[in-house]
Amino acid sequence: MKLIDRTRISAGTLALVTLTAISTGFLEATPALAKAPQQKPVLTASAVAVADRYAADAAEQIFREGGNAVDAAVAIAFTLAVTYPEAGNIGGGGFMTLYVDGKPYFLDFRERAPLAATRTMYLDEQGNVIKGKSLYGGYAVGVPGTVDGMWEAQRRFGKLKWKQVLAPAIHYARDGFEVDEQLVKRRDDASKQFDGKTNFDQYFGGMKQGETFRQPELAAVLTRIANDGAKDFYNGRTADLIAASMKGNGLITKRDLQDYKAVWRQPVEAKWNGYDVITAPPPSSGGVGLVQLLKMKADLAPQFKDVPLNSPQYIHLTAEIEKRVFADRAQYLGDPDFYKVPVAQLTDDAYLAKRAAEVDPDKPSDTKSVQPGLGTSMPEKAETTHFSVVDRWGNAVSSTYTINGYFGSGVVVPGAGIVLNDEMDDFASKPGVPNMFGVVGSDANAIAPRKRPLSSMTPTILTKDGKVALVIGTPGGSRIFTSIFQVVNNLYDFDMPLKDAVGAMRFHHQLLPPNTIFWEPYQPIDGPLAKQVEAKGYVLKGQDFNGDIQAIRIDGDTPEAAADPRGRGVTRIVQ
Ligand code: DON
Repeated sequence: MKLIDRTRISAGTLALVTLTAISTGFLEATPALAKAPQQKPVLTASAVAVADRYAADAAEQIFREGGNAVDAAVAIAFTLAVTYPEAGNIGGGGFMTLYVDGKPYFLDFRERAPLAATRTMYLDEQGNVIKGKSLYGGYAVGVPGTVDGMWEAQRRFGKLKWKQVLAPAIHYARDGFEVDEQLVKRRDDASKQFDGKTNFDQYFGGMKQGETFRQPELAAVLTRIANDGAKDFYNGRTADLIAASMKGNGLITKRDLQDYKAVWRQPVEAKWNGYDVITAPPPSSGGVGLVQLLKMKADLAPQFKDVPLNSPQYIHLTAEIEKRVFADRAQYLGDPDFYKVPVAQLTDDAYLAKRAAEVDPDKPSDTKSVQPGLGTSMPEKAETTHFSVVDRWGNAVSSTYTINGYFGSGVVVPGAGIVLNDEMDDFASKPGVPNMFGVVGSDANAIAPRKRPLSSMTPTILTKDGKVALVIGTPGGSRIFTSIFQVVNNLYDFDMPLKDAVGAMRFHHQLLPPNTIFWEPYQPIDGPLAKQVEAKGYVLKGQDFNGDIQAIRIDGDTPEAAADPRGRGVTRIVQ
């Protein structure tokens, strides 16, 4: 069977196929829509790298039942919504980069601003940002996209029944799972931040380390989604419960939910170092940022020559290119459905060579002098999780999804147990005022009804000669694409083994605050190294978190996987 490319089917045909499929017992049988063909196995095993062991078990079950990478990814996403509630979700959104049957795809299931949202909704009468309003409580919530995203992906490319991929999540919600120490710690931190102002503690206050935690309301929601498909979430009983939770406490209505649609987009693609990089387009800034970093570093090969990894000079040169990437990000990046993002220009070789040539090899260039590179007259707290999957047929899924901060807005839908996101904080509430991740934005990322907030999530796949070579991604807000850049660099420029490349020190610079290098507790910049970096003119600042990379590398026909030692992720190779 030939894979049908949906972009070539008219909207009318699609609607008809979809309706017919639903009315003819679509949920029970293998869907009539295009599915990945039964290719010949090309790898010795399937593999996953995910944020917890329950999701790895779910993926293994799906592979043993004959599922492919997309089936496994969807099962992982629903499972993490139960067992990794600080970030896994059905109340948030995300992105999925896919490589199926030798072709790249990208699915955008990012949240959207509600219809009643306004550009100034987080400002007081004096025009100042109201602290916390875009972060906690119902007004922080964007219209969730995860369920529609999973539905779209599985319907288009999955091999198993929809119900089959939801089964592990329903099991963990109904029968419970054993609570991990890290989850309790994150719950405690989040609870302090929500400070009794949301209903968070009613749902998660009782969770104890080592004990079984059950979520019966969430189990009922997942069962309805298994039976009725995404329409339960967007136009059924679950939609009613979500809308009810917002009454007097937020903007999302039933109409917002009915209106939501995940979108297939062209991924950002670039040639780099003999690889094809397939990564996230706007409304993520991550793919553009990653390609800019990779290409500028290649342009600066003479300056990087013989510079040891993570040495003061290496940190300086990297910060210099990051500075330029973040200047462009703040000016040009936003939802492409609302703002013409100049992706081709921003990733153009000649443009990046010119930008790289501005890097001062000796000292940090003055922050104010680093302006968006295309000129200004162009057209117009934290948690997320990533999973990487490959199957024996050579397909790959790289997906990052999020509710933004740990446990999102802290609002849990009564009667449904769904943790709702605080993704609205990823918009620029006011031009030039930093958000939770300290990044600023402009018109391109101003709030508007139905608009998607700018993201940094960067689910990425590298291929070589048409075959998957690396599947990688991480949470970390604005640290996401600088983290991926560093790991890719460790792998290919420094030939490190996968596990070492993932575990190695990471640092981050993002233009603002000026000349500030963020370091992380896992591998701090301290002692003599700190002194040398400071002597170059930088300020060092500690931060709690610098990602949780989940990566799979394929060497020949054998996949190898690594979960970041910073998190509670695991890997699984399924023969
Ligand atoms: O979309 C974004 O870029 C952020 N909402 C992601 C949040 C995140 O990675 C939190 N993790 N630490």
